[in-house]
Amino acid sequence: MSQFWSKSVHHLTPYVPGEQPQADDLIKLNTNENPYPPSPQALSAIQQACSEDLKLYPDPDSTALKQSIADYYHLKTNQVFVGNGSDEVLAHTFQALLKHDKPLLFPDISYSFYPVYCGLYDIAYKTVPLNDSFEINADDYNQSSGGIIFPNPNAPTGIALALPAIEKILQRNSNAVVVVDEAYIDFGGESAAVLIPTYPNLLVVQTLSKSRSLAGLRVGFAMGHPDLIEALIRVKDSFNSYPLDTLASMGASAAIQDKIYFKDTCQKVIRTRDKLSTDLERLGFDVLPSAANFVFVSHAEHTASDLAQALREKNIIVRHFKAPRIENFLRITVGTDAQCEQLMQSLSAIISKT
Ligand SMILES: Cc1ncc(COP(=O)(O)O)c(C=O)c1O
Repeated sequence: MSQFWSKSVHHLTPYVPGEQPQADDLIKLNTNENPYPPSPQALSAIQQACSEDLKLYPDPDSTALKQSIADYYHLKTNQVFVGNGSDEVLAHTFQALLKHDKPLLFPDISYSFYPVYCGLYDIAYKTVPLNDSFEINADDYNQSSGGIIFPNPNAPTGIALALPAIEKILQRNSNAVVVVDEAYIDFGGESAAVLIPTYPNLLVVQTLSKSRSLAGLRVGFAMGHPDLIEALIRVKDSFNSYPLDTLASMGASAAIQDKIYFKDTCQKVIRTRDKLSTDLERLGFDVLPSAANFVFVSHAEHTASDLAQALREKNIIVRHFKAPRIENFLRITVGTDAQCEQLMQSLSAIISKT
């Protein structure tokens, strides 16, 4: 049926998300979901919103949610944009702010959705290699561009960039938008949101999918100068006036307000990550220093694809990217203590057998 496709569709290379198998007994450490449930306050807000009022359209501006985010980060609501998952927020960002004559820059190893958006919106891009330790080097972004985007902490490496390095990039690229994709920031990085009042070229993107255990609700947001937000609103209102449904807006707003539960679950994930990193090192793994809810690891004596396959046979799934420079790495999401314990037992058995 491809004769009916629009011309541009023939050339798209869509993003392939991590698999979501339905088996009950799987230990699922492949898509960086939070192993803990959402805040009880978020769940109760969603339940309350399940009412007759669902016959009405939601608030097209998600005003209450924007207010919760603005309060949390000491911003104004006109500095906040919300969308149906940060993937949608990023898509609008690429279209609204990153399509220029000069190429967009992002690291050679980073979120693999970025080149997909470039393909969708026909945006020229250039990748900037991470250094030999898989770190972003701010000096490498000292070049003219149509914009810059990188995850912080980077994905899938998990390595965080400190705020002074981000400021350096912002200062040297004052004529370009710099997008910091903070999907994993709450697990150990420092948010660039504090820099928003100083840098009108900064856009910070976050999600409730990871640190607030709400991947299924699909809520993400961006924060920046009102002029940047205005561009995102223009694109959104030319695409879908109601990207967030009533349940998502209410649940997300309650989750942002429940700071105690949020901090507690983040701390638990961080503690488990640090123990998991030490345990993996004891088994001979090279573990990149992670500030995220996953670890990125390789083993000198075992290929990543063999290990992923052997784990799968033991009902544990992790993520393996067949991409240059990282084909021998596994990305392992931090689960509960019990899940990580089982992972370690399985890995010990696999490694001692060969
Ligand atoms: C770096 C990065 N950014 C954005 C996202 C998208 O998150 P969501 O669309 O669930 O908000 C992900 C998801 O894995 C990610 O790894």
